[in-house]
Amino acid sequence: MVYSKIIGTGSYLPEKILTNADIEKIVETSNEWIIERTGIHRRHIAAEHETSLTMAEKAAREAMADAGIVPADIGMIIIATTTPEKMFPSTACHLQERLGIAGCPAFDLNSAACAGFVYALSIADQYIKSGAIKTALVIGSEVMSRVVDWTDRTTCVLFGDGAGAVVIGASDEPGILSTHLHADGTHKDVLSLPVSIGKPMEVEEELFIKMTGNQLFKLAVNILGNLFDETLKANGLQRSDIDWLVPHQANIRIIQAMAKKLDLPMERVALTLEDQGNTSSASIPLALDKAIRDGKIKRGEMLLLEGFGGGLAWGSALIKY
Ligand code: UT7
Repeated sequence: MVYSKIIGTGSYLPEKILTNADIEKIVETSNEWIIERTGIHRRHIAAEHETSLTMAEKAAREAMADAGIVPADIGMIIIATTTPEKMFPSTACHLQERLGIAGCPAFDLNSAACAGFVYALSIADQYIKSGAIKTALVIGSEVMSRVVDWTDRTTCVLFGDGAGAVVIGASDEPGILSTHLHADGTHKDVLSLPVSIGKPMEVEEELFIKMTGNQLFKLAVNILGNLFDETLKANGLQRSDIDWLVPHQANIRIIQAMAKKLDLPMERVALTLEDQGNTSSASIPLALDKAIRDGKIKRGEMLLLEGFGGGLAWGSALIKY
């Protein structure tokens, strides 16, 4: 039996930091409101020359160095991003060129929004388990600061920029134990970036993220609770078998509710929200990489990754790291 295992991780965060105090000068909000309602204190913002491609490359090179591989070893590149370099060619094809390799499949996963990383990981995992490829580079990279409306306090305080990457490789020991993906298009309007291709832009605001936050909040808590039950049941595990929750970083209150659901203390949750905000599909690999590099997550521990976002789309991955 062939399994896929995480063999390296990496990340990149832009240098510029925007604090809640900085945002108070842009829209009518307060540091207290943002912290109390979201848990976010600051976020990284890409410089003008930085894009989802430049950040993905930095995170990818770090992950490859960590895995001890060279670009020629890569059998597939998937970049989860809602803010791609271009509509096409994909950010992944741009990255492939920068890495000096050609031939392996490379594509973006644009459509699963904040669940994009888990979706991408699931695809790469299937290819490795089937024996079709041996190594995959799976990245989440986002410049959310370019798609938020900086006059809309209900969204602009939430998001940040960055990239996280993992290298997964074939292994005869269990690594990624299972992935579970779902979507429900009946909630398509709860969170969207409603740019229509081929239609004249009617109003400028179409370029920006739109979100009904409190509706999404309630949906997320419910959906993720069921997702955890499904993931544990599929593997015949109990809540007590989980060592770490590595959640999408959208709101501290959602994450606390999920930790409670798993009976995990918050010390067992990989958290970056306070310093990075919501980086959409980059948030899970960023949190994973940080917890590993900080020496918190250790080899052999059981990790539960979860992501949810626009679509709605959501998913989990259970991983023996
Ligand atoms: O990554 C994809 C997944 N995303 C999510 O899961 C997001 C889920 N939702 C959330 O995290 C929360 O719903 C938010 C943080 C977005 C909002 O928190 P909330 O507790 O649900 O607030 P709300 O939308 O119900 O708004 C409460 C009040 C409103 O004022 P009124 O109508 O009560 O007078 C808002 O206008 O807070 C107001 N408000 C703000 N006040 C100060 C909304 N945004 C702000 C703000 N500063 N930035």
